[in-house]
Amino acid sequence: MKITVFNGSPRGKKGNTNFIVEEFLKGAMIAGAETENIFLARKKIIGCVGCFDCWSKTPGKCIIKDDMDELIEKFINSDIAVFATPLYVDNVSGIMKNFMDRMIPIMEPYFEKDENGECRHKKRYDKYPKIVVISNCGFPEQSHFQVLKLLFRRIARNMHSEVIAEIYRGEGEILQIDLLMMKPFINKYKKVLRVAGKEIVKDMKFSGKTKEKLEKPLIPYRYYISGANKSWDKENGN
Ligand SMILES: Cc1cc2nc3c(=O)[nH]c(=O)nc-3n(C[C@H](O)[C@H](O)[C@H](O)COP(=O)(O)O)c2cc1C
Repeated sequence: MKITVFNGSPRGKKGNTNFIVEEFLKGAMIAGAETENIFLARKKIIGCVGCFDCWSKTPGKCIIKDDMDELIEKFINSDIAVFATPLYVDNVSGIMKNFMDRMIPIMEPYFEKDENGECRHKKRYDKYPKIVVISNCGFPEQSHFQVLKLLFRRIARNMHSEVIAEIYRGEGEILQIDLLMMKPFINKYKKVLRVAGKEIVKDMKFSGKTKEKLEKPLIPYRYYISGANKSWDKENGN
């Protein structure tokens, strides 16, 4: 099984998103998956110009010469594609949005109706990877991921695929905090992430128990909120 992560954080390897991705991939590798972790911030991805040449003059190929050909090939040749992004203004990061816009060559222009009678574009390829979403954000509650949850369901539908698992991490800014008292909480979460990685390879989904553990706050909201406010005070010299 090939799992490819497309990471849209501008912080790349050092980001909180990648902190989650790395543990998840460790579990997946132990379970036998071949994995690749791609940092989109290190790739050249120019914004879509909306010419639709990829649907007419050069079918399946974008006219822009950058790293997207290589990325699309990696996407199509994966069994599971992981969209990994920090939450930016209740949405995906700009880097991730650019990447997703440039994926339209993977579809044909022609319309068809899906099983619910709703239009989408026809397939260009026989098979598309299943989708896993990984995100983290600065606020603590799960409700901040409402838009992302719906967005990736819609994207998967458009891509003739499905979202098989999601990891949404509130309180993301403490994942890499250098505080001894935080270590046990973070280590516990890392263990859950590795279990999640193993489960996705074995069962193509997370167990109910794992889902529940993944959504638990790392620390109680009130401590996180007061800690965050104190740290901004310090940052601003108050
Ligand atoms: C431009 C910008 C917009 C953000 N918007 C949100 C947001 O809407 N909600 C939220 O909870 N956190 C928001 N954050 C915080 C990030 O999600 C958080 O810092 C996250 O840990 C970054 O992940 P990364 O290290 O992988 O980039 C935002 C951060 C930036 C820089």
